[in-house]
Amino acid sequence: MAIVQVHDKQFKTYISNEAIQQRVAALGQQISADYEGKNPLLIGILNGSFVFAADLFRNISTAAEISFIKLASYKGTSSTGNVITAIGMEESVTDRHVIIVEDIVDTGKTLHAFLPDIIQRQPASLSIACFLSKPEALQYDISTKYIGFEIPNNFVVGYGLDYDGLGRNLPDLYTLVND
Ligand code: IMP
Repeated sequence: MAIVQVHDKQFKTYISNEAIQQRVAALGQQISADYEGKNPLLIGILNGSFVFAADLFRNISTAAEISFIKLASYKGTSSTGNVITAIGMEESVTDRHVIIVEDIVDTGKTLHAFLPDIIQRQPASLSIACFLSKPEALQYDISTKYIGFEIPNNFVVGYGLDYDGLGRNLPDLYTLVND
């Protein structure tokens, strides 16, 4: 087991890159079968999803497109709470089969706040693919069709996920020592 130091914390190997690649290949096959002939548009949410999105996209064997956006949060009305909107959404999603690609669904708050933005653009269909999901942490009704791994409610880094900016370039996934 490898230990890495990221800022002030120690992390240990949790899921090897080999196991990740196997799982991502299976997800790619599943998406290829489900979206055959539909030219799906994958929308990766930056920064965290870029590693997963690249690997997933290379494992899709049917025609598909990919684009990336950043999310910005601003205060909505008291009924809408925080609204999250997309920056860099150049592609039209209207009438497209959209797959949102996320690194991790933790509480689900980000997607819960952002999905109305996508839905009002009237895609032909909408699904979510995430590398990780923490079911114990989920606080919103988010239905994620494609999940790489379900993990316990512990903090992880690597494979695109960071701890305060660092750790994204680690090929394996790591979890906190002592968690
Ligand atoms: P949510 O809105 O609570 O679902 O949080 C989603 C975002 O929080 C993800 O896109 C990540 O950027 C970040 N996040 C949540 N859990 C972790 C973790 O264990 N490691 C690194 N980032 C995380």
